[in-house]
Amino acid sequence: MHCRLTASFRYSACLAILSAATALAQHSTEAIHVDDVSHIFRIDAADTTYEFGVNEDKRLQTIYWGERLSEKDHPQPPKAAPGVASFDSTRNTTPLEFDAWGGGLYVEPNLKVTFPDGNRDLDLRYIGYSTRDGVLSVQMKDISLPVAVTLQYKVDEATGIVGRRALIKNETAKPFVAESASSATWNLPRGTNYILRYLSGRWAGEWTVNDQTVKPGKTILESRRGTTGSQNNPWFSIRKNDTTEENGDVWFGGLAWSGSWQIAIEQDAVQQVRITGGYNPFDFGYHLKAGGMLETPWFYAGHTSHGLGDASRRMHHLEMDTLVPRAPHERPRPVLYNSWEATEFKVNEAGQEALAEKAAAIGAERFVMDDGWFGMRNNDHAGLGDWTVNPQKFPNGLKPLIDKVHSLHMDFGLWVEPEMVNPDSDLYRKHPDWVLNFAGRPRTEGRNQLVLNLAREDVRQYVYSSLDKLLTENDIAFFKWDYNRNWSEPGWPAVAPDEQKNVYVDFIRNFYSILEELRKKHPNIEIESCSGGGSRVDLGVIHLTDEVWPSDNTDAFDRLRIQYGFTQAYAPGIMMAWVTDSPTWVNQRTLSLPYRFLSSMQGSLGVGANLTKFTSEELETSRKMIAEYKNLRETVQRGDLYRLISPTDGSEASVTESVSRDRQQAVLFAFLHSSTELYSYPRIFLRGLDPDRVYTLRAIEGKANSDTPTSATGSYWMHRGIDVDLRGDFQATAFVLQGASH
Ligand code: GLA
Repeated sequence: MHCRLTASFRYSACLAILSAATALAQHSTEAIHVDDVSHIFRIDAADTTYEFGVNEDKRLQTIYWGERLSEKDHPQPPKAAPGVASFDSTRNTTPLEFDAWGGGLYVEPNLKVTFPDGNRDLDLRYIGYSTRDGVLSVQMKDISLPVAVTLQYKVDEATGIVGRRALIKNETAKPFVAESASSATWNLPRGTNYILRYLSGRWAGEWTVNDQTVKPGKTILESRRGTTGSQNNPWFSIRKNDTTEENGDVWFGGLAWSGSWQIAIEQDAVQQVRITGGYNPFDFGYHLKAGGMLETPWFYAGHTSHGLGDASRRMHHLEMDTLVPRAPHERPRPVLYNSWEATEFKVNEAGQEALAEKAAAIGAERFVMDDGWFGMRNNDHAGLGDWTVNPQKFPNGLKPLIDKVHSLHMDFGLWVEPEMVNPDSDLYRKHPDWVLNFAGRPRTEGRNQLVLNLAREDVRQYVYSSLDKLLTENDIAFFKWDYNRNWSEPGWPAVAPDEQKNVYVDFIRNFYSILEELRKKHPNIEIESCSGGGSRVDLGVIHLTDEVWPSDNTDAFDRLRIQYGFTQAYAPGIMMAWVTDSPTWVNQRTLSLPYRFLSSMQGSLGVGANLTKFTSEELETSRKMIAEYKNLRETVQRGDLYRLISPTDGSEASVTESVSRDRQQAVLFAFLHSSTELYSYPRIFLRGLDPDRVYTLRAIEGKANSDTPTSATGSYWMHRGIDVDLRGDFQATAFVLQGASH
């Protein structure tokens, strides 16, 4: 017998924000099939099939993950693989969906537990399944102990991306400690021809793309920092070694977690590649009370046969259509002005109003006052934690500035860094015990600040009510929510020693719950996730914030590489990108204003320059560029991104194209680093256009070669291509291709 379910891809939390009816109508599908006789679970969505079943040992084994199989194909129940001699038992060689440590398991476990009697062996077997609201829940239980693990599966119909997580229940009479807990293992078809792509970085140098052959052994991507981090991002893609940007198999995915995480990519003894992701086992030890449950984060992953570019586009669609708070109808990102680079901490009413006037004149729609407005905050040594307006800088509170911003037809945004405290603050003086610390040990500062222990209920309440008060008392449309250091000494002395490590989970759950509650109470608020740049960007935070800040590096040339890396995993529609002053503080590089605009216009456009120093000509250029952007932002933010020429690997060129979902409009951005030896700029071949539709070409900046027609079919632009006239150093050009209506 086959049973079919209706699958929805939403978190229940999001259903509270949106009407459940809308969400289900948008994401319903009959995608998950369960064969009750053979115990095979099959997920067919978009052009992808994911299939697993119960083997003769009653373990859950992956059967298939890739291009969609025909409905006529009915695989047999999976068979456990033979082990390798006496050294690797079958549990090490069978591609299992989820296995606990015990019984001689040497590959990365999904769960490792220590029981109070010293037993550390766990052996999970399939016992049944259930379905609810489009989520398939497959239950496993230990062979003798009442420890239950439920594996959950949901699928996004449009992209075929599957979401998986595990719920670990302690049904014994005593607490136990989970020393590792992951969400899922994804198993690839056996083979040795894989290339792993992952992202690495550091402050002001985030989003570096790395490619490496998958070899025997293990590669660990991780954060041990208590937060997502930029040193690795919780995203991976693995491709066959002949896959390109546009063709070939790619398996890819991301973890929805903003705390310490790990993704292990392992080629096992029989050349199978397993991708296991979840909580970072380093320093992990979740104390699970009798009757308690530990949820692991959702781990999303998908497959495409259409190359790395399509893998990214599927992630972008998932994010924009399903994950972001108002998906699928998130508002377009407004053009934002931010004061940080112009004033740093020297904010005051008159200065901000002067900037606001200029920002409004060039077409900004949102004015954001950055750091410096609260407590005794005149530099980064004091004030964090005291979320009251500084009376010297704003003697009449924020109202006069907000009224001014509104009178200029912009909405108002404010910078906050709620999880942090400076020792030089009223909050710390009152509650020195509120920070992460080990009793009697030093407290390491970063940027002169300590991390509040958000896992504590009193801290959670303080942070929530400080932000709620700001939103209740002021007409604030937007928070830039910052997080400017990582954890150290992650102790929680207020609870029993064996519960202290729960901080790794409880802190992040409380962070999410604050975001959720604020959004529920103030449904119009929009939030940017910032962490000294791009250190808190992941699918978990994206579900609760509307945009992210990829990097403090605002050098428009550096940003080309940063954006190339960012868009591997995340959508241009959530990528805030400011135009800032030249020469940039980062590299002392001088770049023209149009170059800086075109670089930022590939994402969600903002301006962070000191506009009071702009000439009237620069203000006019800015006004024109912003007006252009407003006509094409729908395409850039929600459309399909094609990375036509990569700025990496010493490339002198960088080209991106965005095509609107209806293929009516395309926008092309091309950048030249430096001309050499009389070579012309490479011809640009567009992609993703409707081949039969006629598109008219219009330059936003720069020009095409004189033999370029002003209109031609999509086929022409994709096969004949465009030659652009770019020569010199740091040059940029951009075009709109507007399609005729059918
Ligand atoms: C971080 C952010 C910056 C700015 C400063 C303010 O570094 O990434 O954009 O907001 O904090 O202190």
